[in-house]
Amino acid sequence: MQQANIALAPFSSFQIGGPADFFAEAPTKEEFIEILKDAKNKNTPFYILGGGSNILFHENGFRGLIIRPTFKKITVSKNRIIAEAGGLLSQLVQEAIKNNLSGMEEWVGLPGTVGGAIRGNAGANGVETKDILKEAEIFDLQKEKIETKQSSEMQFEYRNSIFKNNNNLFILSGTFELKEENPDKQKMMEILRKRNITQPKGKSAGCVFKNPVNGISAGALIDQSGCKGMRIGDMEISQTHGNFFINHGHGTQSEALQLIEKAKKVVKEKTGYELETEIEIIPQAFPKLQF
Ligand code: EPU
Repeated sequence: MQQANIALAPFSSFQIGGPADFFAEAPTKEEFIEILKDAKNKNTPFYILGGGSNILFHENGFRGLIIRPTFKKITVSKNRIIAEAGGLLSQLVQEAIKNNLSGMEEWVGLPGTVGGAIRGNAGANGVETKDILKEAEIFDLQKEKIETKQSSEMQFEYRNSIFKNNNNLFILSGTFELKEENPDKQKMMEILRKRNITQPKGKSAGCVFKNPVNGISAGALIDQSGCKGMRIGDMEISQTHGNFFINHGHGTQSEALQLIEKAKKVVKEKTGYELETEIEIIPQAFPKLQF
């Protein structure tokens, strides 16, 4: 069901976001497809919301339709887990443990949804989505057809995939291939312990920038450049991890963008590295329609 004037802040871990003109939850794949086709037919600008843990909305909201897939069925078959796009990664990790499947331990504590993880090739502690995803069921809005895509066809790169570059492909579910062996619970405890110490607890969207080179942490560069604690309005570069920005209450997109520019400039001057944002920045209105 489509609703009007829905505040986006509660759907974003930054807790930033004014009202979307329209907002629709899709509790089934079929409803998701219908909403997509309808938006296309009506030329309505739209954006698909995942877990909201990697997104920066505008404080004045969004002039269009926000679609939130909430279908989240999980099916386990031998060493494979088929997870629908709207489910949380934390549930996926729990399901792997419950079924004695190993390969996802590194993801413990990772926020977000299955669809968001596939789109952004999310990863933590050396395991990226591409490493454990076998295939995904997708809806092609141009062809108006459901298809299965192999992981090798998804143009996965560090924090990138075909889904970020092709506005017609939408993730319905993913099939993850794991090992039939006991998950390493010790490793999971250690990862959670480390995450608790190294990553801040405030309202953030995780890492703001991509690491510029494999093995070079944007957070460490921001730290070395002396940017931790820089603040514009209510947005601050975390004292705990340089790649996290914290919203202290009433932060806005424009404050976050100013802080992004400031950090980029200082890091470039001090270290020579050009930082690129990882979070998705959603303007108040798209400059042109998606079709
Ligand atoms: N470091 C500092 N200062 C800082 C931050 C980090 O010196 O302010 C140092 C750490 O001490 C460590 C090194 O930099 O020696 C690497 O830090 P960390 O282990 O936190 O990893 P990262 O490269 O900064 C990446 C991902 C995180 C993911 C962690 C753990 C990116 C942009 N970030 O961070 O992902 O949780 O590894 O696997 O790839 C995210 O994508 O949102 C995210 C949080």
